[in-house]
Amino acid sequence: MTVRKAVIPVAGFGTRFLPATLSVPKNALPVFDMPSIHFCVEEAARAGIEEIVFIVSKNQEAIPRYFEALPELERALEARGSVSTLDMVRRIGSLAKITCVAQTEQKGLGHAVLMARDAVGDEAFAVFLPDDVIWSERPTIGGMIEAHQRTGGFAVAVKEVADEAVPNLGIVDVGGESGRSPRIVGMVEKPSLEDAPSNLAIIGRYVLGAEIFETLENVEPGALGEVQLTDGIAAHLERPGVFGYRFEGEHHDVGTPLGMLKASIAAALKRDDLGDDLRAWMDGLRTAPRAAGF
Ligand code: UTP
Repeated sequence: MTVRKAVIPVAGFGTRFLPATLSVPKNALPVFDMPSIHFCVEEAARAGIEEIVFIVSKNQEAIPRYFEALPELERALEARGSVSTLDMVRRIGSLAKITCVAQTEQKGLGHAVLMARDAVGDEAFAVFLPDDVIWSERPTIGGMIEAHQRTGGFAVAVKEVADEAVPNLGIVDVGGESGRSPRIVGMVEKPSLEDAPSNLAIIGRYVLGAEIFETLENVEPGALGEVQLTDGIAAHLERPGVFGYRFEGEHHDVGTPLGMLKASIAAALKRDDLGDDLRAWMDGLRTAPRAAGF
């Protein structure tokens, strides 16, 4: 069966971007000239997903508002003859049907996904963590939906990471299998390097069955009172089974200030009108004496 809905939790505090997140939701902050939330909604739409369910906390109106149609702006752009800008604005306003569900207490990612239970109903659905931006010709989630249809199990995006990243991520055990969609036999959240079963980390794309909701209801919260999505998924390793998905493309973690900066620079370098000037400026920085702060 096809996957029609995607859940995108954006209700976290975004503490790594304070003080900016006192006034702007983290995923409304731009990767160069696009709010970071744009990329996963575009990826979902390209894979045929029709409805986005945002899990929001208060003061996050900027996220759904970005995807609303703006007839006044469209009229103004039309009058000015700004054809390509008009096309872009129209496209953003028609990417998907947008629904918002409130998470009134930030009790973790698993709890945030659980909030989508009524909006999703009894069907398989996608989950995106918008801090993970993946630029690729083929939408990653589309390949994962196919893997889900082929295996009947849950699909989780995975990527080989460096040793130093392992203790900050969810790590999977695939028993050494090297194919694109290996069966996952174990999962552990933020292991020490010695305890980690591999260097294969979970990246924020999932295709899950509706049975995850019942499981999440019963997951014991961890030390900080947070319900982990990984714990819920790990309860399904046997049934219906969970499969990794090694994706292709350029991945950026924009959930950290350095990752956001790198993604912004990478996006600007791709631009025909700016790339060369930016590169020249960066070359100059390498040779310039260090500034003494400001
Ligand atoms: P993070 O762990 O990145 O937390 O959440 P955060 O609040 O976004 O950022 P920091 O760590 O404080 O800087 C992973 C994803 O889960 C969502 C977040 O919005 C993010 O997309 N989330 C997390 C919720 O929706 N609700 C929660 O209770 C926790």
